[in-house]
Amino acid sequence: MPDNGRLITLEGIDGAGKSLQTRLLAENLRDLGHLVVTTFEPGGGQQGGLLRDLLTGDAASHWSPATEALLFTAARRHHLDGLVLPAIAEGKIVICDRFADSTRVYQGFDSETARHRVDQLHTLMIGTDPDLTFIIDIPVKLALERVARRSGGDARLDTFGSRLEDLRQGFLQLQQSFPHRCRVVNGDRESSEIASDLLAMSLEVIS
Ligand code: TYD
Repeated sequence: MPDNGRLITLEGIDGAGKSLQTRLLAENLRDLGHLVVTTFEPGGGQQGGLLRDLLTGDAASHWSPATEALLFTAARRHHLDGLVLPAIAEGKIVICDRFADSTRVYQGFDSETARHRVDQLHTLMIGTDPDLTFIIDIPVKLALERVARRSGGDARLDTFGSRLEDLRQGFLQLQQSFPHRCRVVNGDRESSEIASDLLAMSLEVIS
């Protein structure tokens, strides 16, 4: 079985630019001849849209924090089994827009108990950690401007807006918790500049 499969994740608050950087990193790695699969959470993998609807659609406001943690974990397990682990086993580089660190930050946010519960669920049901995680960091003001510019706006922002600074700090703290795999990247720059940093750091874990 090839052992060159890797999992690279991109994390950060809403509006940080993860989706664009996921695409640019994939293009840059493919140009160098690597086999790359891009994916995302919540909702990656076949039928993942059903789970994404549960987590971000109209139903989302009904879940308790514990139920939310379980549903994000269930969606991740489905994604892992159906897409991420098979691709890694085939020697591909999987680039995933959000992964378990998002659950740590968003669902683990409220209390130490909540974070402990998320960590336990991860150990029990996921057990796969990325080889490299980019935490794309931008000021909250910029995040709010970018999300407001998105067509149709974003209903969830009303809920998250006032918490964004805490969420940002939550992502930054991951660097202390997982220094071996987390790299904080300044996302308030030209996208090409960010992309070339991400490529250079990715090549360090790929070769
Ligand atoms: P996403 O589609 O990445 O939205 P955006 O492009 O705005 O960043 O994620 C949708 C929302 O789901 C986002 O607000 C973060 C949230 N989320 C969690 O709360 N927990 C999780 O585990 C994941 C993966 C996402």
